[in-house]
Amino acid sequence: MSELTNEYWKQLTETQKELKLKIKNDPWRLAFHQMPETGWMNDPNGAVQFKGVYHLYHQYVPDDATGGLVHWGHKTSTDMVHFKEEKIFLSPDKPFNKDGVYSGSALVKDDEIHFFYTGNVKNPGDHDYTYSGREQNTVHIVSKDGFSIEYEEVVIAHEDYPEGFTDHIRDPKVFEKNGSYYMVLGSRALNHRGKILLYTSSDLFEWEYKGVFLEGEKEMGYMWECPDYFETAEKDVLIFSPQGLKPTSYEFENIHNAGYYLGEVDWESARFRPQSVFKELDRGFDFYAPQTFEDESGRRILWGWMGLGDTGPEYTNPTTARGWQHAMTLPRELTVEKGELKQRPLKEYQSLRTNKIEKSLNIETSFEFNAENQETFEMLINVKEVKEKVSIHLKEDTILSYDNQIFTLAHGPSGYGRSERQIEVDGLDLIHVIADTSSIEIFLNDGEYVMSSRVYPKKEKETILIEGTSRLDIIKWDLII
Ligand code: FRU
Repeated sequence: MSELTNEYWKQLTETQKELKLKIKNDPWRLAFHQMPETGWMNDPNGAVQFKGVYHLYHQYVPDDATGGLVHWGHKTSTDMVHFKEEKIFLSPDKPFNKDGVYSGSALVKDDEIHFFYTGNVKNPGDHDYTYSGREQNTVHIVSKDGFSIEYEEVVIAHEDYPEGFTDHIRDPKVFEKNGSYYMVLGSRALNHRGKILLYTSSDLFEWEYKGVFLEGEKEMGYMWECPDYFETAEKDVLIFSPQGLKPTSYEFENIHNAGYYLGEVDWESARFRPQSVFKELDRGFDFYAPQTFEDESGRRILWGWMGLGDTGPEYTNPTTARGWQHAMTLPRELTVEKGELKQRPLKEYQSLRTNKIEKSLNIETSFEFNAENQETFEMLINVKEVKEKVSIHLKEDTILSYDNQIFTLAHGPSGYGRSERQIEVDGLDLIHVIADTSSIEIFLNDGEYVMSSRVYPKKEKETILIEGTSRLDIIKWDLII
């Protein structure tokens, strides 16, 4: 949820204002996750902290909850918890972006923010828009404040990309390394492989193609979207969102996925060398196209789109009929520790904790406790021992269970088609649940695994039921913003 600014309100039509007020009273409206005020939201874009203010831009279709012509919506915050809705930052109003202001990133240099995004253009004619008819221009913007635009130019026009690619080359992420600037772009090559292209620049205005940063084997899918690269003391991290992966046992079960390699860059040859397997970032139903940024205190923070494109009727979002769809995950802090990527909810959200309940339980068969607020809450479950499958019943009909090294998230009818997702966890110590009115995020073993899922209860239970023989220490808080 975010507070509205005057500027945001002024730009709305009367119909949008009415819809906005209706959505305000929707019981599925999220309390502390970022969602569209009206319409559709997808990827996080241009995430940055500038002069103390956090800016989150995002793919946004204000008038249509089913998607369409994308803009960049804009929200700001000074504490990463309370956000203000700002005026739309970018609209598809130029010849080089007329069919959508697609995803991109931000970089701060000398008191200015430089944004890079993909201007999507579909030329008229008989085209399939993969092999012909589409242009995806890389566009550069300079802003002194994150609200107004000083300069906007195409820096890599569609025809300037190298040979061997389809028309799908997009989602620039820009970073600095030893005084030079680099840009990674996602793509679909003509040989149906995903590839990440690398460009370099000394001033952010002139860009030179360096080569393919990483190229996938056939099993890594046909298209890679939204690449993101950053360095940590231990390893370099390359995140991207591949399309066309086959599910393995329990992994990559969504239609599209997002994951990462840990590795090292050989800057001589401009190649990323993976040193790990490709791991899925989030094992829930609703996660795609994440983006990271480093904040002014040096933390690496990730937002994911808590949604997914191209899902069929197998699972749906009932808010669409109410005029809005999708949201962002809670921002997470990323670290690499002992060769493992960890994701933890941003600690700022602990400020919302209230009404603490604490229980040390030795359960024989089952235990039920009063837990009236299951709309917006947080729960830490310290798993001391599980003798026999343990199941925790939450919200309306959501069940978390652990049995024989398998952790399961299972939804009932309130999942609107979301059934169950499983993770093989060798030794479960901690289950950390963060629930909002229509979402649940589960962090296992202090950031080792995450599952994000939308869920749409009509009536929450008033108790939490735990079944199975186990010893658990539980803390539950309401999260009130
Ligand atoms: C990922 C994506 C990006 C693109 C944007 C368009 O969800 O397909 O590749 O830039 O969404 O909205």
